[in-house]
Amino acid sequence: MRHIPLIVLGVGGVGRALLRHIIANRDFHAARFGLRLQIVALVDSTGAVVEPQGLQDETLQEIEQAKAQGTPLVETPYGYHASDARAIVDVAGTDGAIVVDCTASDAVIPALELALERGYGAVLANKKPLTGSMALFRRLTGSGRLRYETTVGAGTPMIATLESLIRSGDAVRRIRGIFSGTLGYLMSELQSDRPFSVAVRQAYQMGYTEPDPRDDLGGMDVARKALILARMLGWGLELDDVAVEPLFPPDMAEGSVDAFLAGLTVLDKAFAQRVEEAHGQGCTLRYVAEIADGRCSVGLQSVPMDSPLGRLRGSDNLAEFHTRWYSPSPLVIQGRGAGVEATAAGVLSDIVALAQRG
Ligand SMILES: NC(=O)c1ccc[n+]([C@@H]2O[C@H](COP(=O)([O-])OP(=O)(O)OC[C@H]3O[C@@H](n4cnc5c(N)ncnc54)[C@H](OP(=O)(O)O)[C@@H]3O)[C@@H](O)[C@H]2O)c1
Repeated sequence: MRHIPLIVLGVGGVGRALLRHIIANRDFHAARFGLRLQIVALVDSTGAVVEPQGLQDETLQEIEQAKAQGTPLVETPYGYHASDARAIVDVAGTDGAIVVDCTASDAVIPALELALERGYGAVLANKKPLTGSMALFRRLTGSGRLRYETTVGAGTPMIATLESLIRSGDAVRRIRGIFSGTLGYLMSELQSDRPFSVAVRQAYQMGYTEPDPRDDLGGMDVARKALILARMLGWGLELDDVAVEPLFPPDMAEGSVDAFLAGLTVLDKAFAQRVEEAHGQGCTLRYVAEIADGRCSVGLQSVPMDSPLGRLRGSDNLAEFHTRWYSPSPLVIQGRGAGVEATAAGVLSDIVALAQRG
């Protein structure tokens, strides 16, 4: 049995689901791959729990439940104050370790760099490290020991699909995708003639949006995903190079969430007009990431109703890969693009893939 030391940064929704999946799969991973994943450190924004022998499953379950109830790691019986994930990687890392980034922070980048310098593996759910400078992207991905499937499309294997196309030597000419479950849901609601303001409020009330819906409607999360795919194609783009169309005007960027939601009705007419224009041409509106001709853009597009993007409903994500060999019909991959369980499953798959390489 090979023991793989894991250092998990971030014990929020995805990090906690990952702990549950690791425990639930212990027997399967042992029988099928001869692997035992040992969690030697957990880190949140307040502190860390470190156990060089690997935390017992009972302790992990206790910590997972405490975190679910909002208790910071530092306040659990096992935690201590720590504000620097790099220092934890420094003390807890050993040969063959894998550092797993389930934060949404760029403060953990030095920890990831140290891990890769030491020859450890790293798995990211966090997009921020890959959407900083191009130089950082090259350093992180150039190691060959970094996996990041869930940064685009959550557990749906969009990165693996693109990697496979690149490895085959196929020429990827254009990628189009819907990479936000929230915006996908909104577009489906607009298509059903729901006013924009009502659709956004509904999504907010159902917990489909970030606490501040402007974080979804601004398009930056989709822009980061588009940038990761573009960089995988070897294009030296920065985040500022992505043309982003936010779904609200700049004067609505400030102020409280309540005021923002209340003010959205002013946008209803313009959205209804765009929906009607699109329908008149047999099309429907979608919030599309477009990666083609060395450029990236994210924004509203009118797409044919009978195309893969046009047929998509609800919160699924979808990517169309237009390549030399997938032409004129693109290679299409579709699946849920969010949710902590599917995301944790994707992270776990990356961990096992790295562990299997030894
Ligand atoms: N949720 C999804 O469906 C989904 C899908 C695909 C990808 N992702 C990505 O997965 C990542 C995690 O998402 P989530 O939903 O689990 O977020 P979350 O619930 O907000 O959890 C984030 C975790 O990161 C910790 N953290 C923040 N700054 C830190 C730092 N400097 N050092 C160490 N830990 C730090 C937080 O600590 P505290 O607990 O102390 O606040 C928290 O435990 C994000 O990057 C997200 O974009 C999520």
